[in-house]
Amino acid sequence: MSETAKALTWKEVCDVARKDMLTCKVCKECNGEACRGVMPGPGGKGTGIGFVRSYQKLQEIKLHLDTIYELGEIDYSVEFLGKRFALPAFVAPLATCQTQYGPKYQSEEFYRAVLRSAVEQDGLSFLPASGEKALNDSLAMCREFEGRGIPTIKPYPLDVLLDEFKRCEQAGALAVCTDLDGAGLALVQGGPVPVMPHSVKNLEKLCASVSIPVIIKGVMTPKGAKKCLEAGVAGIVVSNHGGRVLEQAPAPVEMLPSIADAVGGRMEILIDGAIRTGADLFKIRALGATGALIGRPYAVAVYGGDSEGVSCYTKKLKFELREAMMMTGASTLAEIEKEMLYLPEWAK
Ligand SMILES: Cc1cc2nc3c(=O)[nH]c(=O)nc-3n(C[C@H](O)[C@H](O)[C@H](O)COP(=O)(O)O)c2cc1C
Repeated sequence: MSETAKALTWKEVCDVARKDMLTCKVCKECNGEACRGVMPGPGGKGTGIGFVRSYQKLQEIKLHLDTIYELGEIDYSVEFLGKRFALPAFVAPLATCQTQYGPKYQSEEFYRAVLRSAVEQDGLSFLPASGEKALNDSLAMCREFEGRGIPTIKPYPLDVLLDEFKRCEQAGALAVCTDLDGAGLALVQGGPVPVMPHSVKNLEKLCASVSIPVIIKGVMTPKGAKKCLEAGVAGIVVSNHGGRVLEQAPAPVEMLPSIADAVGGRMEILIDGAIRTGADLFKIRALGATGALIGRPYAVAVYGGDSEGVSCYTKKLKFELREAMMMTGASTLAEIEKEMLYLPEWAK
């Protein structure tokens, strides 16, 4: 964008996306209501309640307003896997966007737009990397956009994962991830999709097979988090896959406090599921997460404004997080504390 060109507004991005996305209504609040059960598409599985609940539970948490403090410089940068990023929010993997959202984007162009913005905004993206083409594309992007991509591979049989994890390591990926809860997609898509649960032993083998950190996405219990720790996993994503694999799963944010109690400080904890604003980022930091993944709004961002749309949404998050920190008295992410939240009973 030239120096003089006016930056896109989020409203403009949404207006374009609304025309070009076939399955997503680009609602003012991305809360899972209008897309209940729309799969392929952005919805949650079945009645869609899994996605809806994730949104509702986050909204039950509020921030305590307190502006009686000495203002310092506000810094919301985050350290993740030993590297510093501008914001505790990364882009989630969203596979096959052309089938899920409409033909305007193929997966590769979609994530190129995301990564161009990640370079500009000092961000990071998880990349869908299941199947030979998606894996090759994501490895090429890891090479090109050094340190800004984490390939995310479906939980295929162990021999396939061992081979593909090695290829990620050789491509210089910052880390490699498998969405273990993707085991449920064999059922969603009517199978036969060769995905499956994996034992702690298998996870141990995977972690030992590469020198880069391994991240497990789709951990929803303290017990599951401890199993990951035992296997040598570097980080987990507390996630129910956006409500797309088990309709009756609780919201990730409901599980975050107990998971953070179980493994916090010993591994990276990310969380996703209806995290939409800077205030939501404040909430998940206060409850023990390193940061969040955000998926569906970034699909709107790409369809509505390509890499500029992605930067527009990221800047919006930055502004909102700064505001939340300023209005509660936290100058750095480390200063964000649980007491700054007004919590419902379930989160205490
Ligand atoms: C259309 C679509 C495709 C997705 N594809 C993947 C995928 O390939 N791998 C994965 O780990 N998660 C996938 N997810 C789950 C997201 O990464 C994320 O966990 C979920 O959408 C919750 O975050 P959100 O509410 O911010 O979208 C997908 C979600 C959607 C909506």
